[in-house]
Amino acid sequence: MKLLLVAGARPNFMKIAPLMAALRQHADAEVLLVHTGQHYDQKMSDDFFRDLEIPAPDINLGAGSGSHAEQTARVMMAFEPVCLKEAPDWVVVVGDVNSTMACAVTAKKLGIRVAHVEAGLRSRDMTMPEEINRLCTDAIADLLFTTDEMASENLRREGVAEEKIHFVGNTMIDTLLRHIERAQRLPLPVGLDRKGYAVLTLHRPANVDREEVLSGILGAVETVADQIPVVFPAHPRTARNLAAIRVHPNIRITGPLSYVPFVGLVANSRMVLTDSGGIQEETTVLGIPCITLRSNTERPITCEVGTNILTGNDPERIRGAARAVLADRMRRGRVPEKWDGHAAARIVEVLLDAHPVSC
Ligand code: UD1
Repeated sequence: MKLLLVAGARPNFMKIAPLMAALRQHADAEVLLVHTGQHYDQKMSDDFFRDLEIPAPDINLGAGSGSHAEQTARVMMAFEPVCLKEAPDWVVVVGDVNSTMACAVTAKKLGIRVAHVEAGLRSRDMTMPEEINRLCTDAIADLLFTTDEMASENLRREGVAEEKIHFVGNTMIDTLLRHIERAQRLPLPVGLDRKGYAVLTLHRPANVDREEVLSGILGAVETVADQIPVVFPAHPRTARNLAAIRVHPNIRITGPLSYVPFVGLVANSRMVLTDSGGIQEETTVLGIPCITLRSNTERPITCEVGTNILTGNDPERIRGAARAVLADRMRRGRVPEKWDGHAAARIVEVLLDAHPVSC
């Protein structure tokens, strides 16, 4: 069986790492890793490959940045000849970035079967490009691997046949559990004490593209910065927009961090404030309070059973949640079912068993 495994942007890399490792253990699986080049900076891509011990991509599509249409189109145009040349049995895509949807659509139109890892997540927010990517990918995928039963239920409600849906757990958590001990042993940056600082990440266009919204969020985060340092590893999009804003001296802006140092920073922190998707899941597993600066989440299980609380980007709600965490008034939460480090193994088992005519 021949598979093309696709990764494009930073949040994909921790999802493909355990899949790549599990697939490479099977002599009857020939796997080629395709990097679309959606993220291309050393700090947004190469450092993750090194940290996560992912082998160098077999094929790099070099798509780069651009508008959504430009980026998606470039990935599609570069991926189509690869599919034709390699003629894989499966294209495996993960997550919800533009590369995920672009490669799924391209493969499916060539009659190649598509497997989607992290299927069924829904924010019901059609202003998020990721929601459109999720809907398009899930509508055409032949195998849909979910991280929780709520996601499986979303797919059933959309009419996806039961035999295509497999609740396998969370490959991002496979990666977290594999690296957490190493991450926690790393020394903290100078001036930070265990449980004595917060971590902030922001990159969603809805939060960072308008100066008044970004400065409103940073103003609210001052409630935390007045008491403990706030470390803020900034995404390139955010870093550009921060230049015009006055930032509290206890909010320490750094460049993007690589995976292991970032996870170590989160695991030792008092709280995280974020608009990321994956960090909501990682904090739930680590038991760290997470204030999510979005009004919705495609990962509601992290609010139901985990440590996540949604505040949107409303400064008053952010302040209220931050005060509750600083006063230790947050529930502990628990780890969702099957977030146990074995999701990739379950996925590979299903993939290798899938009969060509069953999809
Ligand atoms: C993408 C994903 C988002 C994910 C995020 C994580 C989509 C629709 N969005 O958003 O779901 O949470 O990645 O980081 O796919 N840039 C660089 N260097 C890079 C990559 C990007 O400087 O290596 C800059 C470019 O100026 C680019 C901007 O960041 O225009 C945005 O990059 P893009 O890939 O379009 O989307 P992200 O905001 O990173």
